[in-house]
This record gives sequence, structure tokens and C-alpha cells, in this order.
Amino acid sequence: MDSIPVLPVETMRVRRGIKWHRYPEDVLPAWVADMDFPVAPAVQAAVSRVVEQMDYGYPWREGANGLEAAFVDRMRERFGWAVEVERVRPVTDLVQAIVAGLVAFSDPGDGVVVQTPIYPPFLGSIAATGRRWVINPLRDDGSRFVLDLDHLEAVIDERTRILLVCNPHNPTGRVFDREELEALGRVAVAHDLVIVADEIHCDLVYPGRRHLPMGSLGEEIAARTVTLNSATKGFNVAGLRCGVMYFGSEGLLDRFRRVVPDRLLGSLSSVAIDATVAAWREGQPWLDALLPLLRRNRDRVATWAAEVGVRHHPPEGTYLSWLDLGDLDLAGESAQRFLLERARVALNAGEDFGPGYERCVRLNFATSPEILEQVLERMGGALRRIGEAVR
Ligand SMILES: Cc1ncc(COP(=O)(O)O)c(C=O)c1O
Repeated sequence: MDSIPVLPVETMRVRRGIKWHRYPEDVLPAWVADMDFPVAPAVQAAVSRVVEQMDYGYPWREGANGLEAAFVDRMRERFGWAVEVERVRPVTDLVQAIVAGLVAFSDPGDGVVVQTPIYPPFLGSIAATGRRWVINPLRDDGSRFVLDLDHLEAVIDERTRILLVCNPHNPTGRVFDREELEALGRVAVAHDLVIVADEIHCDLVYPGRRHLPMGSLGEEIAARTVTLNSATKGFNVAGLRCGVMYFGSEGLLDRFRRVVPDRLLGSLSSVAIDATVAAWREGQPWLDALLPLLRRNRDRVATWAAEVGVRHHPPEGTYLSWLDLGDLDLAGESAQRFLLERARVALNAGEDFGPGYERCVRLNFATSPEILEQVLERMGGALRRIGEAVR
């Protein structure tokens, strides 16, 4: 594929997605993690086939048509990771999988480690299941966000049971390297923690970095790791609801099943399965064509941030930029509210990603360069105006 077409604003507004509808029409949305691009042709063909054949009965998807086999092959081909088809459990979404993991591997009141700032449903799922946040903030070392392992050792107590890992990391875009992940794994082994590794952004990694599945880091770490993955972020099909949990050992899967019987997680729709299988088996050329566009947008955001005085480290993966407006005058407002009211741009609020991030926002740059330019212009304008008013 040569290049990815971009959907015009009118098309986005005609569709019924949340990104372009939650806010009033004069607001440009750069928040929730959906992309403003058409899907891969193979994905569209798979969905169209179901519709054209009115194939709406209970699905029969064996072998290469099945989700489990497609996941196994995808992990081997993309990451050289050998996974067992019997230990793949389909789920409708990854937040469901997080909640299931929390319920299966901990009790109410137990501690669950998160590296903040973090994708808000991590925090929400821990709270909703009566577990406890064990917060280990990422540390800004001046050029990127890094894991603070000393702090992690200090905050883990005897009732901490689970280490939630998000890699590539939402919202900072860090793609953790082998040393970092192995160090995390060693902490989990030392404190007998189950690792729940959300790797949903693994397809969105820029040149120079490589995604390493947590479950591929050797027997000892793998045996305690549940990996969560789906095609929904890389291939822009979040609304189709489809993902997998992968259990790194038979023992872990048995423990899970004793608490969460198979049928409790429901089963997938035909469209969800076929779209995901098409994405994983045939979608790579589309993804290869998409990444350069995302990379240019990423770089544009970084240039803009430097110009306007916003603290920022360009993401190594994901199409999300974590912006820290802490050096700027925001007239006492949170960064998200300031930009919504004064720039008419909708971003994700930093405060939703953990305590202490009110002056940060997450920007989704998976849109056309033209829309991104308007978003940045509006934000820059609002920041300049307040700067002038203060002077
Ligand atoms: C890290 C992470 N996990 C999970 C999800 C949501 O996945 P799902 O829609 O399958 O619940 C997202 C969505 O952006 C995400 O960024």
C-alpha cells in the first residue's frame, strides 16, 4: 500500500463514534484512542462478507479462521514469541480482561501496582473491584519517562498481589526495553505478584524501538504473566469489541478458571472475530503504510510543544502525546478544561491518569495532518493569548 487516505471531518461526523460526538460541533476532538482513518481493506472485506452473506448465526471458525490461531501466528511472526493455542482466551474487550484478572488473582483490599500516569480504566477497575492502588509514578529523567524501581520496592506491601504493566505505555508512549521489563519481572518474582501485561499498543511502535512481550522474557516471568492484546488499537476497530487474554502457564490458567468460568466472559461476535483475524493475518501492509504518517504527526506535535513551552517527550510508540503544561499560566484551570474552553479542543484530562497530573493532557494525533494543524493552532493561540493578557 502506498499511503493511507484520511477521512474528512464530514465523514467523521456522519458516523456514530464517540470521538466526534461527545463534544459540541465547534470543538475539535483529539481525545479517545480512535483514529480518523479508514480501516485496512482486508478488515473491511471481512466485515462486508458477513453483511453480504447475512451470516449472523452462531459462528464456526476453525483453524486459520479462528481467533486463537491468528493470535498465535501473529505473536510468532511479529515478535518471535511462541505461544500455546490452548492458553488463549477470547474476551470482548481488554478492560473486561483487566477486571477479570483482578478478580481472579487478588481479593478485595489487596494492592495492585500501576505506573502512573496511566490509562484511566486501570485505576477505575482497581477501585471498582475494591482493590487498592499501589502507585509507582514514572520518573521523568529529562529525556524520557523511566520506571522507578527503588520506589516500586518501597511501595509494595505484603498485601500487594498484582503488577499491572502497560507496554507500550499509555499515555507516555514509552516502549520499555529489555532491561526495564526484566527488572519489573524480577520484582514480581521476588514478591510473588501476578503480572497483567496490557500490550494493546504493540503494533504502534516507531523505528528505533521494538516491542518485547512480557511473556517472552523467560520461563519464570512468563509463568506468572497474563498478557492482554487485541487488534483494536493498531487496526482501528475498537467498536467491534474483540481481544485475547494469554496465560503464560497452565497453572495460571487453572487459577483463573477456578474463579472465572469460561462462559462468564461471554463469546465473540462473527464480525469481531473475522475483522481481527483479517487484521492480524492480512493487515500488516496497511499498518506499514500508516506508521510513517503517524510518525510525521508525532514529530509535528513535538516541534509545536517545544515552540509553545509545553514539556513533552515524543512517544516511542502509540499515537498519543503526553503534554505537561505545568510551566504555563492556565488561569487556575486544569489543562484539559483550559484547552476545551479557550481553544475548543477536546483532549484527555491529565487528572484522570492518576493523582497530580491536573496540568497535563493526552493528545491523540491519529488524524490528518490538516486537522492536527488546526488542533495545534487553536491550542497555541489560547496559550499565547493568556501569555499576552498576563504581560
Ligand atoms: C492500554 C489500553 N488498554 C485497554 C484499552 C481499551 O481496550 P478495550 O476497548 O478492548 O477495552 C485501551 C484503549 O485505548 C488502552 O489504551
